Amino acid sequence: MNGADFLELVRRRYSCRSYRPDPVPEEVLTRCVEALRLAPSACNRQPWRVVLVTAPDLRQQLAAEALLPGISMPWVAQAPAMAALAVRRDWFTHRVAPWFSGVRYDLLDPGIAGEHLVLAAAAEGLGSCWIGWIRPHAVRRILGLPGSFKPLALITLGYPAAEPETRSSRLPVEEVCRRNRWA
Ligand SMILES: Cc1cc2nc3c(=O)[nH]c(=O)nc-3n(C[C@H](O)[C@H](O)[C@H](O)COP(=O)(O)O)c2cc1C
Repeated sequence: MNGADFLELVRRRYSCRSYRPDPVPEEVLTRCVEALRLAPSACNRQPWRVVLVTAPDLRQQLAAEALLPGISMPWVAQAPAMAALAVRRDWFTHRVAPWFSGVRYDLLDPGIAGEHLVLAAAAEGLGSCWIGWIRPHAVRRILGLPGSFKPLALITLGYPAAEPETRSSRLPVEEVCRRNRWA
């Protein structure tokens, strides 16, 4: 894959909010998790943990109990697979190092890993959607996560039922990037 192909893949990804019921083949899920596993992290601590949820009862329970109110997300219950992304707290990179730098490596690291998974999913022809509007305690309870794991997001996965009519827009490059110095 060259740079143009990669950019095309990045352009193809969007937050998919309608899924076909077809199950995602096991080998496809395995490749998506492999992409997550290979992500970089501060001091290579690899603090992300992920639970792939395909069991219908657990998916229904997550959709019913682990989403915060206020945003209607009926499509979550349709998605044939879900990745529950959590961070396992690391005393050095998540406590000591941010004390000096003020940088939240505990959020950066799983964010990078989760997006690796999402881009791998796009390369497999899957739709995906990050869901951060969650009740972390409910995710932990439903999926039996240890107390040291903090759930950060659910990522729905599945074959898209329909392409969205419009794509969300992005800021122009001049607004997000400057050369050498900002000002
Ligand atoms: C950390 C994070 C949390 C998000 N949480 C939600 C969510 O709870 N519900 C939802 O429908 N979309 C959620 N999204 C999707 C965003 O709304 C979406 O990425 C953004 O509007 C850009 O659209 P696009 O992904 O289609 O390019 C989330 C995305 C990210 C990265």
